[in-house]
Amino acid sequence: MKGKIIRLLKENKNSFISGQNISDKLRVSRTAVWKYINQLKEEGYEIESVSRKGYRLLNSADLLTYEEIEDKLKTNTIGRNIYHFDSLDSTNIKAKELANKGENEGTIIIGEEQTKGKGRLGRYWTSPKGKGVWLSIILRPNIEPTKASYITQIGAAAVSKAISDMGIKNYIKWPNDIVINNKKVCGILTEMSGEINKVNYIVIGIGINVNLNKEELPRELKNKATSLKIESGNLVNRKKLVANILNNFEDFYHELIQYNTITKSIEICKSSSALINKEIKIIRRNKTKKAKAINLDKDGHLIVEYPDGTKEGLISGEISVRGENGYV
Ligand code: BTN
Repeated sequence: MKGKIIRLLKENKNSFISGQNISDKLRVSRTAVWKYINQLKEEGYEIESVSRKGYRLLNSADLLTYEEIEDKLKTNTIGRNIYHFDSLDSTNIKAKELANKGENEGTIIIGEEQTKGKGRLGRYWTSPKGKGVWLSIILRPNIEPTKASYITQIGAAAVSKAISDMGIKNYIKWPNDIVINNKKVCGILTEMSGEINKVNYIVIGIGINVNLNKEELPRELKNKATSLKIESGNLVNRKKLVANILNNFEDFYHELIQYNTITKSIEICKSSSALINKEIKIIRRNKTKKAKAINLDKDGHLIVEYPDGTKEGLISGEISVRGENGYV
């Protein structure tokens, strides 16, 4: 109901709409309208109330609800159904719960805050309220389970392009991270449910440190993590960012569904790579090997060359990659 009221207020932007009018249109009592308006004010909407005139929207809240994003969304399915939470444990956990109950492809789960944000390798992901983009997308692609890592490449390309289009130069640290000035600004956690030769669903979780200040980053990650605000010096519009990501994601995902290829995503992952042409360390089952990253193939494998001249295509998931002298 709050969403419907916001929509009406937005349709009448710059003018008043009476409580009676809202109550007639939405078939709820005027008292209920008044209660919802108060809740919206508490959530951060600036709404002017004038007796005998009604309500007028002065400023929207900084919330990642469907009503706040829809005018910027160009997609058909991705993000057309949004579950928005003020606070939840983890958007990936919720997405898997919903997917297990049959939720459709394209549905996304967004939390303003996560209390148990999940990182890779069982790590915790700090997700303070209103400061980032913490979202998960439910997908049901008809692809071989071995190609699930394509989704991570699509996600990384979609996020990287969205951040670049907002004027912030960034790099993709294959396969899961986006970095700026050698510090991580975004992490991706892709989880799959499937059988040997069939994907049941994939959940891609995207976490972006958007408007966090330095002191809001975990202390132990001070030299490894950053935010878009810290790097650009400006507050970043989270609604635009989310809409751009979803628009890009659908475009790149469509290529996979239509042609079984991810060339658009690979192109971006290559041109924005933080690793290609760099000396790196490959960590596999606690063993570290030095190599030079030389390319990304059409399936998203990182091609590396070892000091003895042999080459290998690395598959994401089984290894960690670090720069020779640190994180990148
Ligand atoms: C990483 O370790 O780099 C991956 C971090 C992924 C964090 C995101 S935030 C949204 C989604 N929900 C989660 O619990 N985790 C992912």
